[in-house]
Amino acid sequence: MKVPGMLVAALAVAWAGGASALSPAAQRGFVFVDTNCSKCHAVGRFGDSPLAIAPPFRTLHERYPVEQLAEAFAEGIVVGHPSMPQFTLDPAQIDDVITYLETLE
Ligand code: HEC
Repeated sequence: MKVPGMLVAALAVAWAGGASALSPAAQRGFVFVDTNCSKCHAVGRFGDSPLAIAPPFRTLHERYPVEQLAEAFAEGIVVGHPSMPQFTLDPAQIDDVITYLETLE
């Protein structure tokens, strides 16, 4: 099967084996972070962040449970770093993004 695009290919490989596709919520979360965060962060299973000081999302769970980010997302992410823009997500988007982040663990 021919899969278009490096990222889709990488995701396909990442979930091959179990062949369990991302749930719809995780897919929405992925689209959100791919659109809004991937300029600086690595948002997938592989690769370096485009902005070196921005942590790849797959490493976040090594620092804290990603569910803890829900509160930060609701209040607007403030990480005390000027190069990180502030985002405020609505509750549905937060669920989607957390669900996606959990697939990276
Ligand atoms: C313009 C670049 C940029 C964009 C866009 C961006 N970030 Fe970041 N982000 C950063 C940088 C730089 C850091 C590291 C800040 C630090 O360590 O001081 C960071 C850190 C983080 C952290 C870690 C905070 C911590 O203290 O552990 C999270 C979580 C995060 N970003 C989430 C997001 C999410 C979600 C998005 C998309 C909605 C996003 N970022 C978009 C630059 C960005």
